[in-house]
Amino acid sequence: MSSQARSESQAMKAETSRELEALIRRRLGEAGGWMPFDAFMAQALYEPGLGYYESARVFGAAGDFVTAPELGPWLSLAVADFIQWGWEALGRPADWSLIEQGGGSGRLLCDVMAELARRGLAPARVIAVEASRWMRERQREAYAAMGLDVRQTASLDEIEPRDNALYFCNELPDAFPVRCFAWRGGAWRERGVVWRDEQDGRDGHFAWNERALDAPPAIDERLAAAWPDGYCSEWSPGLATWQQALARVMPRGYALCVDYGYAASEYYRPGRSEGTLLAHVGHRAVEDVLAEPGGRDITAHVDFTALTRAGRAAGIEPACWMPQGAWLAQSPAVQARVGELARAGGPEGMDDMAALRRLVMPQGMGELFKALIQVRGAPTAPPPWLERFDRLPALEHMP
Ligand SMILES: C[S@@+](CC[C@H](N)C(=O)[O-])C[C@H]1O[C@@H](n2cnc3c(N)ncnc32)[C@H](O)[C@@H]1O
Repeated sequence: MSSQARSESQAMKAETSRELEALIRRRLGEAGGWMPFDAFMAQALYEPGLGYYESARVFGAAGDFVTAPELGPWLSLAVADFIQWGWEALGRPADWSLIEQGGGSGRLLCDVMAELARRGLAPARVIAVEASRWMRERQREAYAAMGLDVRQTASLDEIEPRDNALYFCNELPDAFPVRCFAWRGGAWRERGVVWRDEQDGRDGHFAWNERALDAPPAIDERLAAAWPDGYCSEWSPGLATWQQALARVMPRGYALCVDYGYAASEYYRPGRSEGTLLAHVGHRAVEDVLAEPGGRDITAHVDFTALTRAGRAAGIEPACWMPQGAWLAQSPAVQARVGELARAGGPEGMDDMAALRRLVMPQGMGELFKALIQVRGAPTAPPPWLERFDRLPALEHMP
């Protein structure tokens, strides 16, 4: 992006952010001056026309962060392996559905469809579920450019139940609005948002404020027992709603979720005393999630223990869970492509190989990101090439 285009885009961002700030302030006033953080985050990310995912230039080198679909062919190859395996485990049905949720730019679905076509695999229908209208438009352009016939919906609730469904998402649940808590004097407090007027030379701004928490989150009390006073973190009420919606849409099928996060024992370890909530702006992670609503991405890591428990409660069983590094490195298609690049030699594959290192190395995205495969109404054995790397028992481990 040129420097003029960049400063124009920053000016637009600032204008949109001021508009959204005024809207949230009005709603705060109507709500008595306090709102839970998930309500603030939902508006900051998804307010029609103003939220971060509704207006910003988000992904890629010119955006605020780069996600795995932009880093070479690797994610799409491993996702295609998952789909082919799931389709075979379902008995190779002629009538099957492919569903992606939260596809962002649409790049991953395009790459996955190209890879499936190379394998002669053709879903009877392809559905892309994307909450943001702005992203749905970007996706529509991407699918049209590839000549793909994709049904687009805003929510899983718009889809009728699909037997033989293969579902995938990358970096979806980290974008679900979270509620925040503080642990004080052995009691739960909820951290919400208030408005502070201009004071001591500081402009008016959103600020944190605590209240008693009526119903405590479903976090194991054994973890809370080790927390220092004032420990802060968050939990994601959206996980349960999402898994219930997925269970309804997928009476029989397999789901793959890739995202950054931990087992509960790691997520809520005593040393992680400020939680995982972060904002991203211009390729930097910043801690102030209340500033510039709509101008920065807000995310929290995924508690995979809570996710798989919510799944089980909805009738979806976990089949395997592991770091992204192991999942990608074991993928037969990834291994085959690495072999091809090595045999070809030459400089062409160097960028792709550098991207692969970033995706699989523990100090890159290989350990923090995890891959979870879940199943409903079908055999629960994981893909054979992943069996040895499964870490599902760690999700229920308590220190
Ligand atoms: C962090 S982005 C990831 C985008 C893409 N999967 C990637 O890896 O580049 C999260 C995406 O999920 C979408 N999203 C968030 N909540 C959603 C929901 N409940 N249903 C569908 N899409 C959702 C956002 O609008 C955004 O496009």
